[in-house]
Amino acid sequence: MAIKTNIDIPANDPLLVPEKKAIIDKIFEENKNRPGSTMVILNELQSKIGYITEPMQHYVAQQLHVPVGAIHGVVTFYSFFTTKPRGKHTIKFCMGTACYVGGMPQLIEKAKQMLSTDIGDTTDDGNITLEICRCVGACSQAPVIVVDDEAHGRVRPNKLPQLIRKCQD
Ligand code: FES
Repeated sequence: MAIKTNIDIPANDPLLVPEKKAIIDKIFEENKNRPGSTMVILNELQSKIGYITEPMQHYVAQQLHVPVGAIHGVVTFYSFFTTKPRGKHTIKFCMGTACYVGGMPQLIEKAKQMLSTDIGDTTDDGNITLEICRCVGACSQAPVIVVDDEAHGRVRPNKLPQLIRKCQD
């Protein structure tokens, strides 16, 4: 399927990598006429490509005949979706009220310094991605950090190096 977007597409974007473009088009062929096709297609893109770039969001909008703002809104609202590849491990910082009040901003600052990376970014070695998440339902354990799929509660700044080390073994 032809790409008709009015934005520049970087050469390494999945849309311009033939094997990935084939996967993307197969996802459209199989799901485009299903009820709730937008969410199904975005979920498939995230699972099979690993992320949904801005050009990919334009392509989805073009193929489904919906405004690009609607696609962008969904991708940025759900933390499951990412616009860049995730690292091998993901560390998520809960920013729900209890965790925020319980000291999460300080933990985030410390993690950013220790790993020299930012929220939403991945360390240079491609190992760890830092993300923010909403309340994970363990408020009595605040502040809560989720390393890959494992939640860790009552995290104090001095416990952070240990959690990060788990991702580096
Ligand atoms: S606010 Fe963090 S687990 Fe609920």
